[in-house]
Amino acid sequence: MIGLTLTENSLEKNLLLCQNHADQIDIAELRVDLLDEQDILEPIIRFPSVAPVPIILTYRRSRDGGAYTRSERLRIQRLKRLFSGAFAYVDLEEDLQHSGLEQAAADHNIKVIRSFHDMHQVPGDFLKRITRIAEQGEIPKAAVMPTSFADVSRLFSCAKELEKIDRKILIGMGVFGVPTRILYRRCGSMLTFCAGAGTRRGAPGQLTPEQLKTLYRADTISAKTAVYGIIGNPVMHTASPAIHNSGYMKLGIDAVYVPFHVDDIRNFLNFAEANEVRGFSVTIPHKKQILPFLGKVSREVKQIGSCNTVIREKGLWKGINTDYYGFLHPILEDLETGLIRKALVIGAGGADRAVVWGLRNFSAHVGIVNRTHSSAVKLAEETGSRAYSTSELEELREAGDESVQFDLVVQTTSVGMEPDITADPLPSYRFRGDEIAYDLIYTPKVTKFLQRASQAGCRIVYGYEMLYQQGVLQFKSFTGVDYPQQL
Ligand code: ATR
Repeated sequence: MIGLTLTENSLEKNLLLCQNHADQIDIAELRVDLLDEQDILEPIIRFPSVAPVPIILTYRRSRDGGAYTRSERLRIQRLKRLFSGAFAYVDLEEDLQHSGLEQAAADHNIKVIRSFHDMHQVPGDFLKRITRIAEQGEIPKAAVMPTSFADVSRLFSCAKELEKIDRKILIGMGVFGVPTRILYRRCGSMLTFCAGAGTRRGAPGQLTPEQLKTLYRADTISAKTAVYGIIGNPVMHTASPAIHNSGYMKLGIDAVYVPFHVDDIRNFLNFAEANEVRGFSVTIPHKKQILPFLGKVSREVKQIGSCNTVIREKGLWKGINTDYYGFLHPILEDLETGLIRKALVIGAGGADRAVVWGLRNFSAHVGIVNRTHSSAVKLAEETGSRAYSTSELEELREAGDESVQFDLVVQTTSVGMEPDITADPLPSYRFRGDEIAYDLIYTPKVTKFLQRASQAGCRIVYGYEMLYQQGVLQFKSFTGVDYPQQL
């Protein structure tokens, strides 16, 4: 089941939230502690009979991450009265043992979810506590905070040990916990929680109903579903899940592509091996650090020293670099026909290595200009290119030097990326109008750099073309089939 947590401060707003997402959710959790008028019980009692999905009744104390701060006696009193509403479940905390409360719930046919919360860690006695609750005949719920990928891995392996308990809820909170929310069925959890977009409790790691139902199709994931993903830190902003998951859906492939917030590659690989992850994309800051863990690498990875795609092949992790081909794709014909002979690359960071090597492998002369000149010199030495300082480049161009009349200018830095969209990485560069201008940034689509180039009459290549192409190539190497032409 996909469950929506209702975190608005009034019943009207919560009902609307529930109605707006009714086709994406199976159940909703009413957080009574977040209501402004939680002392007026009658409308709360009526809520489940007007809501479009079954409702879990939750009255959360502040020490468990809720907002209720008054006496325990009053909370129990109110809970008992609320039981006369048609709630499907009530969430009671592990340490709340009040004679008569469980019986009152049972009398009203309300099932008890017995929960514990740890907002700081995955507690050491996690397994024991879940088992004990299940032995009492109640549904255990653990909402815990993984603070490393090792914790995430532990949650998944605990889930295997708890396989015999069919009705339980396991949630890893925060950005590390995202895979537990998407792969909830793999964790043996009967329920995953999400929050309405823009609601006041949209904590880090919370997904929206649209994401869980439509993007990840979390409720259809089974033991047979192929798991792919992306590792990075940060990772939640990447466009790759949208590219890959829409491809699987369009082609009817039983697969899911999950964002993994990873702090330690070794721990992720242990997890990936234990949970049969078949391949994954790699983003900042792991593109270089992944290399020692790869059993096999492609020619480009060896040359560039950076890997953005890893595939499980015959018991080994094989690394390839689709950034390299993704970058080349939009300008391939120009390189092959010799239209591009001289190129200027702005920047000398991680992404530049694929760009410079790509151009050099087609025998283009490459100039590199970078804020930190020494990095440009280093990359130029390695790749047989030439480094220019900004002033040197300006002087040579003003003097009409042929060697700096470029056919292609590639912008690879983060300058001009959202939110600072008015920034220009090389304001002194005057476009002639007959060069190709290529920006690797894809948010915004048209950067300041591309705007200037376009005004001068240049042909422009957008960053999303590279992003899309590298994704398409990854899709093929993961699944063996071509990315759909139309989504
Ligand atoms: P990496 O890709 O290796 O992680 P990065 O920090 O993202 O590196 O930077 C990528 C490129 O953008 C580098 O060439 C960087 O210039 P420096 O080598 O001088 O750091 C460039 N860059 C980042 N911010 C910049 C800025 N504000 N002005 C100019 N160049 C910048």
